[in-house]
Amino acid sequence: MSTALPAKALTLRQGTSGTEPVAIPQLGFGTYKVTGPDAERAVTAALAVGYRHIDTAQMYGNEAGVGRALAASGIPREQLWITSKLNNPNHRRDDALRSFDATMADLGLDVLDLFLVHWPLAASPGIDLVDTWRTMIEILNSGRVRAIGVSNYQPEHLHTIIDATGVTPAVNQIELHPYLNQTELRAVDDELGIITESWSPLGRGRVLDDPELARLAAEMDVTPAQVIIRWHLQHGLVVIPKTTHPERMRANADVFGFELTDAQMAAVDALDRGLRTGSHPDRVQI
Ligand SMILES: NC(=O)c1ccc[n+]([C@@H]2O[C@H](COP(=O)([O-])OP(=O)(O)OC[C@H]3O[C@@H](n4cnc5c(N)ncnc54)[C@H](OP(=O)(O)O)[C@@H]3O)[C@@H](O)[C@H]2O)c1
Repeated sequence: MSTALPAKALTLRQGTSGTEPVAIPQLGFGTYKVTGPDAERAVTAALAVGYRHIDTAQMYGNEAGVGRALAASGIPREQLWITSKLNNPNHRRDDALRSFDATMADLGLDVLDLFLVHWPLAASPGIDLVDTWRTMIEILNSGRVRAIGVSNYQPEHLHTIIDATGVTPAVNQIELHPYLNQTELRAVDDELGIITESWSPLGRGRVLDDPELARLAAEMDVTPAQVIIRWHLQHGLVVIPKTTHPERMRANADVFGFELTDAQMAAVDALDRGLRTGSHPDRVQI
């Protein structure tokens, strides 16, 4: 896998002037449920395979393990893209600032590439979407993160924070895979200039046994996982599959030597059935 992976332009320092867009590697490595020594092991293996974009979160409890793998890799900082996320109990300003400090200490970084609000918590008493976003802007303005964004935000959440602050999230990371293709939310993100990032891009493995994907994979002489990852890439999405198996890490990244036709893309699009493998954003509360 080349380190010159296709990348999406991402506007940095949203709402401020004089800054240049940089590019987020379109294919990254997910780390949900990879904890303890497994986190360091998996991220070390992923970096050795060639991944340069790692997705972690305060909630995953693995930032220190990710940080150890980054430090041990010897890979120059400018070649890495690291995303982390604000945990649900940390939305209030003091908690957010303190937990961001802990994230940076655990990751061993001076500057993070992307910090996301993990869940909107729109129905949680005492939590205000706009207040949380204002704190994220404060973190952005501190210069310790290159871009800020959100995760699991619905259109009304996006409009609320943008209207109140004038600062548009760089990214909206949402559950997105062939069984939940999120056409409408993707269109809203596009309209607002927000990059959509797919979490659980393989539907946590539940999409992999689909007979139509098996047919397409056989047609292309690739695996169903490769068909799915290619489908995300060709839709212009940022995609962060997770696996703890190095041979799957390699296979999941070996997706730049083939292309799905329009008909094959449409065949994957047609698999949508509104299946969520994770929580609905409106139901997640502290
Ligand atoms: N923002 C959010 O709210 C949110 C929520 C969920 C996830 N995420 C992020 O998105 C990342 C990806 O999502 P996810 O981990 O939930 O699910 P996923 O990447 O869709 O699927 C992971 C599952 O698929 C298996 N797998 C991966 N590659 C495979 C292959 N080539 N062949 C067969 N099986 C394969 C893995 O098993 P093995 O490990 O055993 O290979 C694991 O069980 C997370 O790790 C996390 O970073 C964000």
